[in-house]
Amino acid sequence: MYGSRGIIYMEKIKIIIDCDPGVDDALALAYAAANQEIFDILAVTTVGGNQTIEKVTRNALDLTEFYGLDVPVVKGMDGPITREPLYAPESHGASGLGYCVLPESSRTLAGDNAVLYMRELLLGLGEEEKVVLIPTGPLTNIGLLLKLFPEVKSRIKEILFMGGAACGGNVTPAAEFNIYEDPEAAKIVFHAGIPMVMCGLDATMKCTLTRNQVAKLSQSGRKIGKACGDMVGYYLENSTNKYRGVASIHDVVPLMYLIHPEVFTPKRAILDVDCSEGVSRGTTICDFRWWKHDEEEMNGLVLMDADSNLFQEYLITALYELEESLSGE
Ligand code: BDR
Ligand code: CA
Repeated sequence: MYGSRGIIYMEKIKIIIDCDPGVDDALALAYAAANQEIFDILAVTTVGGNQTIEKVTRNALDLTEFYGLDVPVVKGMDGPITREPLYAPESHGASGLGYCVLPESSRTLAGDNAVLYMRELLLGLGEEEKVVLIPTGPLTNIGLLLKLFPEVKSRIKEILFMGGAACGGNVTPAAEFNIYEDPEAAKIVFHAGIPMVMCGLDATMKCTLTRNQVAKLSQSGRKIGKACGDMVGYYLENSTNKYRGVASIHDVVPLMYLIHPEVFTPKRAILDVDCSEGVSRGTTICDFRWWKHDEEEMNGLVLMDADSNLFQEYLITALYELEESLSGE
């Protein structure tokens, strides 16, 4: 099977999605559901971010059922390690899913401590098995996991996270939301010695859906298309996206990078984050100076650019394929 970075995968890629759904997290889950022949989704864990932990966890349960994803959903940390949480209802709406109202699932949580759940899951893997972590929210759960249980590191192949930026921010002039929410957790993750791909704003701002595409999804009269269109429609009209006329679907990027690396332009770097209390709190620092460092130190990749057209094609195709697989067409 063709998969990550042009490599032919004989086995599915084992992933854990750690998320705060959230409109774009919800589309990331749809993208993962559409690609289940490539991804073996071991768990969906939640973290307070776009909305409260109760709301994002409710959304994760409802979304997984709606997308036909039979995976454990586990509740995680309600907010950052050292601070009170900030939420983003202005972008994601009161429920976290914009205008979309999903049928309430009768599913129950597989656990209410994502950190402990991930530890058990990772340590329970076979000798040769490794997992790719996909955080699309603040890095609180992953930071705590690595700090409390460093023995899991050998079971993590890499961490592909949505967050940060080499240049500029969205929540402040310098910082991106997921990293700004919990820079202390990000610091732990960046210094864990695990290979990392930073899917930050430099690339994700180009990974958009247009007003027309969103309207077509909403008006498609089909289950997945309408739900995704209604989610992104809110996000488009109520967040800073409204000034651009397009909506950035940030959280799909780490998953798409695993399957279609050709969409993105990566650059090798060492990652760090500003945890000071000043105006640059939460800014990611990407050290691209390869001439200063040994090759093995440069264990981060930063996605610097993306092909918007290809992103749209792959995402919209995945949404329609999911629709077809669910309706048995
Ligand atoms: C990130 O912040 C959240 O609001 C989105 O879900 C995404 O993960 C973009 O900065
Ligand atoms: Ca998110």
